[in-house]
Amino acid sequence: MKGLILSGGAGTRLRPLTHTRAKQLVPIANKPVLFYGIEDMAAAGITDIAIVVGDTHQEIQDAVGDGSRFGVSVTYIRQDAPLGLAHCVLIARDFLGDDCFVVYLGDNMLEQGLGEFVEQFDKGRQPNPSLRDDSADGLCRAQILLTPVRNPSSFGVAEVGPDGDVVNLVEKPAEPPSNLALVGVYIFDSAIHEAVAAIEPSARGELEITDAIDWLIRNGHRVSHQMLDGWWIDTGKKDPLLECNRLVLDTVVRRVEGAVDDASKVEGRVVVAEGAKIVNSTVRGPAVIGADARIENAFIGPYTSIGADCVIADAELDHSVVMDGSHITGISRITDSLVGQQVRVSRSPERRQGVRLTLGDHSDLELG
Ligand code: TTP
Repeated sequence: MKGLILSGGAGTRLRPLTHTRAKQLVPIANKPVLFYGIEDMAAAGITDIAIVVGDTHQEIQDAVGDGSRFGVSVTYIRQDAPLGLAHCVLIARDFLGDDCFVVYLGDNMLEQGLGEFVEQFDKGRQPNPSLRDDSADGLCRAQILLTPVRNPSSFGVAEVGPDGDVVNLVEKPAEPPSNLALVGVYIFDSAIHEAVAAIEPSARGELEITDAIDWLIRNGHRVSHQMLDGWWIDTGKKDPLLECNRLVLDTVVRRVEGAVDDASKVEGRVVVAEGAKIVNSTVRGPAVIGADARIENAFIGPYTSIGADCVIADAELDHSVVMDGSHITGISRITDSLVGQQVRVSRSPERRQGVRLTLGDHSDLELG
């Protein structure tokens, strides 16, 4: 079994952060989203992985390298434009050969591991005695992960037959055939290559993976499913990203490696990385403080991640993600916020009226 992680795309919904960085590298509990996917694959025994990359290829390659730090081997496949998830499979043909493979969206996170999903697919490779089509060999050609949602019209939606096989798939249907949405993880065998070559681009100009899977079904191949266990988050937007940060922080194990002075309190599940300094401050977990960060005369409240080399002084923050190298000083309360890298937020010593701003394109500022 090989792995294919999709990390190209435009990331328009996470602007302005994605003007300058790959959305798959946005940190969740101070670790890039993409790393969780690679680690999930490694834990399921998948060690031969290709990552599809677009314009942000250099940054992703610099972060992931050859994969050896995860115990896997990583090959990079360049996609010139985000032409769709099925297009990613099309351009990965040489890497994939005739092997079965897991496709994972590089900006998605799942609570469950991949192990059981892969195991079920391997079992489902046994021929099905109740074949629908005499020309099919009964092998399960694909497996998808499904979860019930309240607004199926915003997702790819599957209809499951009485034997558990998927009988119909539609992308963002006006009249959904069920409430079962496709989660961004799939397993395919080599039959998918014929499907991605046969389908046409959709109205939005992309080769849709749902169309390719639907092609398999229409051509008599079996597609099975598993129901999602636990949470699944597409981190490509601010609020889900903060929610994902909360869920992952809830699982951190307390580890204090940095320096905490006597006037400070570090309460509950908190990680204080090496080189960080907590001075006359309270950090109330769950929270993570990155390497070499300095927290001084500050309150860091629950569900907050502070990146490496940040300075948070005379400030209060909670339910927020602050990325590497940012300085926040003299601000009484920041909440539910996502702050990029190398950002400066401060209070003017002159106590002038008015807020002075330098905001990038597509920034979002809510003043209280
Ligand atoms: P999407 O979130 O569907 O698309 P996007 O990255 O273009 O984001 P936005 O809608 O905010 O502009 O992509 C899911 C994942 O798949 C994400 O990690 C990017 C990746 N992807 C590719 O690698 N190639 C593609 O052609 C597309 C569409 C997505």
